[in-house]
Amino acid sequence: MRIKYTLSIVFFVALVIIEKENNIISRVSDKLNLRQTPRTPLEPMVSSRDLLKHNGSYAAAPPGELDPSFTLVKQHSENHTQQHQPAGSHGRKHILLLSTTRSGSSFIGEFFNQQSDDMFYLYEPLWHVEKMLTLDTGGVNSTAANWVYPEVVRQLFLCDFSLLENFIQPAPVAHVTADLFRRSSSSSLCEKSVCSPSVKGIFEHHSCKNRRCGPLNLTLASESCLQKEHRAIKLVRVRQLQTMRLLAEEPRLDIRFIQLVRDPRAVLASRMVAFAAKYKNWKEWATGGDVPIDDIEVSKLKGNCKNIMMSAELGLKQPTWLRRRYMLVRYEDIARFPLQKAAEMYSFAGIPFTPQVKAWILSNTQASKETSGIYSTQKKSSEQVEKWRFNIPFKIVQVVQKVCGSTLKLFGYKFVNSEEMLTDKSISLIKDKVFNFM
Ligand SMILES: *[C@@H]1O[C@H](CO)[C@@H](O)[C@H](O)[C@H]1NC(C)=O
Ligand SMILES: *[C@@H]1O[C@H](CO)[C@@H](O)[C@H](O)[C@H]1NC(C)=O
Ligand SMILES: *[C@@H]1O[C@H](CO)[C@@H](O)[C@H](O)[C@H]1NC(C)=O
Ligand SMILES: *[C@@H]1O[C@H](CO)[C@@H](O)[C@H](O)[C@H]1NC(C)=O
Repeated sequence: MRIKYTLSIVFFVALVIIEKENNIISRVSDKLNLRQTPRTPLEPMVSSRDLLKHNGSYAAAPPGELDPSFTLVKQHSENHTQQHQPAGSHGRKHILLLSTTRSGSSFIGEFFNQQSDDMFYLYEPLWHVEKMLTLDTGGVNSTAANWVYPEVVRQLFLCDFSLLENFIQPAPVAHVTADLFRRSSSSSLCEKSVCSPSVKGIFEHHSCKNRRCGPLNLTLASESCLQKEHRAIKLVRVRQLQTMRLLAEEPRLDIRFIQLVRDPRAVLASRMVAFAAKYKNWKEWATGGDVPIDDIEVSKLKGNCKNIMMSAELGLKQPTWLRRRYMLVRYEDIARFPLQKAAEMYSFAGIPFTPQVKAWILSNTQASKETSGIYSTQKKSSEQVEKWRFNIPFKIVQVVQKVCGSTLKLFGYKFVNSEEMLTDKSISLIKDKVFNFM
């Protein structure tokens, strides 16, 4: 008995410790979930959920034609949102922050998350959807993702969680779930009005840090969302900006896309550390042996760069549907000039830049020293942002430059042509570049 008790405490402490590594915790919580809930089929949603589960293959039909429950979901959301939101009301803005992993999007997301008084912010809601659309091969069914992602995001921007609920596992019961991915990263979901009393015996995997809350009541979340002036969602799972077009064409949304990019060499260096298991091959190549240029990992990297570049090219071309709705930002610029860049993003979004956000940035970056000795600060921040240059061998850098060359060029990242240049601090690899013309 006592051993059992101690064990669970140890286990709990371990969980807390690794919470930062969201990959690990998700895997752990998945295992927990499996054990705790041996698949309880409930509620009318079950038919669509079962459909979805088939190895990430979603029926080819668009939502609504998929099955009766989807039609219901859609209808419901339309009724719901019509009641509460006349089109284009009150200058309400919807911000979609698009990026890829290890590009600084959690940090930049905070610029919006911190304005909790009038901003409803969601952190990676598509995590659940991606999980369900993952194929046996480990990849995501992109055919399905291309229409499911924008549809889920559209409804979330309209404060409707019902479509997302289909993807949360275990399934929410009466719109209540203890399993929303990284709830704690969204201050909107940890506010007093969204915080139900905590329930003994229910372990919330991503529980709020600022107060003790029970499982998340999505009805409360939706109500709070409807009260907020603006809404922002951060995503690292969208591959092509093009697939989000539906959001620009939705009359009830006034959408702003902010695409956040980072030097692909830095991203790779960071992923090799953060996702060590997944980047095992890269680590082996880094320490010895040649990089097989036709390897699947290398072509994945190439594909990632291509997607990022195609999205940026589309955005910068400013087709009618994206006019005044697209902004490209480099992580390196934000790291060096956080206040200035945050102000630019807010101005682009058409939202006042509040002292609240400013204060957060000041206390979480070195910007506080900007007033006294601009140069030393800038130098320090740019050193920070270029630290990767000492963590990745030249050989790997060459591979990235080879397969991501045009992406580097487009974003103004300088190529290095020797080990010496790579590690020469006096040479910055970030060219000054202005992307947006509004
Ligand atoms: C899904 O995968 C399992 C095993 O990998 C297989 O038995 C099953 O037939 C697959 N289902 C579909 C719908 O492809
Ligand atoms: C991916 O999804 C599409 C459309 O929903 C479906 O037709 C297809 O069978 C899926 N592919 C795989 C490999 O499961
Ligand atoms: C939505 O509204 C229509 C017409 O007003 C109604 O017939 C339908 O039942 C409503 N659907 C839901 C899910 O509330
Ligand atoms: C969730 O909140 C709604 C709105 O306040 C409430 O009606 C409902 O009973 C709550 N659900 C649960 C399971 O407590």
